Amino acid sequence: MMQERLEQLQSNALRDLGNTSNVADLESWRVRYLGRKSDLTNILRGLSDLPLDERKAVGASANRVKADLEESLRQKTEGLKEEVERKALRGDEAQLARGDITLPGRVFPIGRLHPLTQTLHEMYDIFVSMGFQVVEGPEVEWDYYNFEALNIPEEHPARDMWSTFWVDNEAGSGEKPMLLRAHNTSVSARVIETMKPPIRVIEPGKVYRYEATDATHLSTLHQIDGLVVDKGITMADLKGTLYEFARRYFGEDRKVRFRCDYFPFVEPGVEMAIECLVCSGKGCRLCGNTGWLEILGAGMTHPEVLRRGGIDPEVYTSFAFGMGVERPHMLRHGIDDIRLYFGNDLRFLRQF
Ligand code: PHE
Repeated sequence: MMQERLEQLQSNALRDLGNTSNVADLESWRVRYLGRKSDLTNILRGLSDLPLDERKAVGASANRVKADLEESLRQKTEGLKEEVERKALRGDEAQLARGDITLPGRVFPIGRLHPLTQTLHEMYDIFVSMGFQVVEGPEVEWDYYNFEALNIPEEHPARDMWSTFWVDNEAGSGEKPMLLRAHNTSVSARVIETMKPPIRVIEPGKVYRYEATDATHLSTLHQIDGLVVDKGITMADLKGTLYEFARRYFGEDRKVRFRCDYFPFVEPGVEMAIECLVCSGKGCRLCGNTGWLEILGAGMTHPEVLRRGGIDPEVYTSFAFGMGVERPHMLRHGIDDIRLYFGNDLRFLRQF
């Protein structure tokens, strides 16, 4: 009798469970078949009233049915949950396909300017605010503008100051020699030939040196040259302009030093150095214990260079300067390997 009742109860329960399709129905099913007032609970409670032999058999069956129903409930619950999740996903996709404007936007990775481009821009800003104009010239250059027009004839020992990449002209073509410009002063030579004073230009770009690469040397680097031509330009203009540049790029209090130097296209020639950024003049490894860091070369443009380009040095005077772009940035940010600028390592590049 009791066994039949249990079997009936079990099959009813499983049938009902099969028909439930949401979480709320599952809960009422649980109350109905496994709850405190359910038939099964009543049967289990009434076991003690049964005779001993019957009690054992019915007890075992009732517990088996209970365990079976509990397990079925667990499986059903899990199945329903999965289905709900699947539906939610499908819903999202449908929403996406319709183009839901309330969804958060997708973040597109945007690039940034290379630190050297940033440095160039910063330097342009400084010179442009002082009335300079930016001009460019060719990277593959005639020997004439790189050397000859700058007072460096063939066989002149000063050519050794620039280890040069020569471009092979066809043998016997009679063409004039060409090279990858070794400095941007070649652009100054062109400007002197083509522009009328007053001239105030800076000339940014790549220059090429036939050199082995290491932490402080590259065969390709950037330079900015400058040229000012007008009546009455003096060394004081040169010093004032470059001092202002150093103050703006390296900071108000940075000391600046000019010393004599030699370049064939200027007379007199100078080098400008700033007080060492690491030791502030005391002497350290960076400045080779001198306390000073050399930043650029400059000078009063040689009268011969002006004359060659068609500007009368009796009427006009001029100053010129040339500096690197990598080195000032390296010094300002304490970077000790120039190769980093061309290495495409985002961890380095993203710092700027
Ligand atoms: N062109 C020189 C160099 O590359 C720098 C310089 C430019 C010096 C102009 C004087 C005047 O070393």
